[in-house]
Amino acid sequence: MTRLQVLVTREVFPETLDCLARHFEVEANPSDTPFTPAQLAERLSSKDGALITLTERIDAVLLARCPKLRAVCNIAVGFNNIDLNACQARGVMATNTPGVLDDSTADFTWALILATARRVTEAEQYLRAGQWTGWKLKQFLGVDVHHATLGILGMGRVGQAVARRARGFDMNVLYHNSRRLSAEVEKSCHAAYVDMDELLARADILTVHTPYSPATHHILGAAQFAKMKPGAILINAARGGVVDDAALIEVLKRGPLAAAGLDVFENEPALHPDFLKLTNVVLTPHIASSSEATRRRMAMLAAENLVAALTTGKPPNLLTPPA
Ligand code: DGY
Repeated sequence: MTRLQVLVTREVFPETLDCLARHFEVEANPSDTPFTPAQLAERLSSKDGALITLTERIDAVLLARCPKLRAVCNIAVGFNNIDLNACQARGVMATNTPGVLDDSTADFTWALILATARRVTEAEQYLRAGQWTGWKLKQFLGVDVHHATLGILGMGRVGQAVARRARGFDMNVLYHNSRRLSAEVEKSCHAAYVDMDELLARADILTVHTPYSPATHHILGAAQFAKMKPGAILINAARGGVVDDAALIEVLKRGPLAAAGLDVFENEPALHPDFLKLTNVVLTPHIASSSEATRRRMAMLAAENLVAALTTGKPPNLLTPPA
């Protein structure tokens, strides 16, 4: 009997491939260089399923070239790289990897908060450049995280995990979300619901945890930054595009923001060149979920989704049912 054929678009872990190979004939991209759209279309045109990452755009044009395709399984919780309507119209199941990366992403959000408030990367660069001549009372004065007000925009699983960690810093935690959480969840997060304007006005540190969609495009831009406190800090480990990067650069140069910690950008990896000229930003290359254990779990969950999609039609993390 001919086996179903699947494509793995980027380098993954050996156990991910082993899992798929037990069920399918697997064509895996041996390198970690993303396929061009043309290469992707050519390789996917004969496949029944695909294990993909956020660097692959799955849209109507691509799907029109893949008549056999029944499932695309993202190794990510975010799925703005997949046109779900186009998938649904073609009967292609799409899945993501919720739940397994919340804690690692929340941990990393805290790495950005602390590094930004206490100027860790800026100070390290100074030291590595051989500029440190000795202790000074006013050297790299930062701002305190403890007892500050943390504002969380987007209170899903990751936002809640960030909130729970704030307790250890005795912070006052405010949040805004499209829908208010239950009193029980608010209590477990020690977080109070406020409207967007109040969140902007009161946060010393604002961290964003919304998915990217047309509804959240530039949810933080010039108008919102103007409402923030002088000296406030912005953290984004969610998705490029929820923040207007050009507007952020302006307020990092002229205020009111003091600093930003950013793991995600518009047009990744071609981030706005002005970010590199600023000393008051901590910049990391979209690694918030990248602990080894978590990235392995994400890849395995995506593989399990693909196996279930093609063998039972019922993957655990289905984003859209087949048409
Ligand atoms: C996700 O899961 O959406 C992350 O951004 C991947 O790094």
